[in-house]
Amino acid sequence: MNSKVLLSEANIKKRVEELGKQISEHYKKRNAKELVVIGVLKGSFIFLADLVRQFSLPCEIDFVEASSYVGTSSSGEVAIKRDPPISLEGRDVLLVEDIIDTGLTMVKLLDHFKSRNAQSVAVCSLLFKPSRTKEKVRIDFLGFKIDDHFVVGYGLDFNDRYRELKDIVILDPKEGEHS
Ligand code: IMP
Repeated sequence: MNSKVLLSEANIKKRVEELGKQISEHYKKRNAKELVVIGVLKGSFIFLADLVRQFSLPCEIDFVEASSYVGTSSSGEVAIKRDPPISLEGRDVLLVEDIIDTGLTMVKLLDHFKSRNAQSVAVCSLLFKPSRTKEKVRIDFLGFKIDDHFVVGYGLDFNDRYRELKDIVILDPKEGEHS
C-alpha cells in the first residue's frame, strides 16, 4: 500500500497518555467512583485498549455497534446493531470513538445513550474532521483534528483492512474513493 504517515505511533501514544490523564482528572473532580466506557465497534478497539490503561479510576467496559460505511462514503443512515446489555441508569458513561467525520453516527449514539437514563454521557474521539461535519457534536475529549483525508491504521479501516497498522496513515486515493 502506498501511504503517508499522518500520525506516528509515538505521536499517538503521547496524546493518548494526555487524554487518559485529562479524563481521569475530569471524573475525579466530579467525585465519580467509576466509569462505564463504551467503545464504538470496530474502529475504537485499539484506542480504547490503550486509553483505559491510562485511567486512574475503575471502569466497566462494553461495546456498541452502529451500522458502518460501505467503502469510504457515508450513506447517512445509522442503525444500532449491538446495544450493550448492561445497566447504565445513574452511571457516568464515556463513549469512545475512533473518528468523527460527518457526526451522524455520534449524534445517533448520543440520543440513544441519553435515553438509557445514564447520569452523564460524554464523548471521547481520537480524531475529528471538522471540514466534513454535517451534524454538530460536542466532543468532550479529543485527540487530534485532521484535514479531510481518509485515514487507516490504529484501529481505523478501509473495508476491514489496515486496522493493525501502528501509525495512522493517509490512504492512497487510488485504493478508495472518498466523497
Ligand atoms: P460519521 O458518522 O460520518 O461521523 O462517521 C463515523 C464513522 O465513519 C467512524 O466510526 C468510522 O468508522 C468511519 N470513518 C469516517 N472517516 C473515516 C476515515 O478517514 N477512516 C476510516 N473510517 C472512517
